Amino acid sequence: MPKVTITNDETGESKTFRAGLGANLRQAALYADVEIYKGMNKMTNCRGMGFCGTCLIEVEPMENVRNHTFIEKLHKVAPNQKLGCRAKVYGDITVKAAIKD
Ligand code: FES
Repeated sequence: MPKVTITNDETGESKTFRAGLGANLRQAALYADVEIYKGMNKMTNCRGMGFCGTCLIEVEPMENVRNHTFIEKLHKVAPNQKLGCRAKVYGDITVKAAIKD
């Protein structure tokens, strides 16, 4: 099971947990009680539908998550970033979350 370390850029909190192979990162973080949203985005996000873009994260290394999806291309997500709701975990990763207003 891949090891995921998420640091919330807004609060500075960091947590490491295990996620299932191919797990959705947003869902795994919610299950592990890790906040990936910034400010009011916790309440106003699209609940993982890929519409709002507020679950933007930076991932290292990118090889351990799936490639950018069509929705991420529409949002013009940078090469080192993913939408948390579109990231599937295939290996150990380090994540910087809560980077979008
Ligand atoms: S939760 Fe809205 S795009 Fe990911």
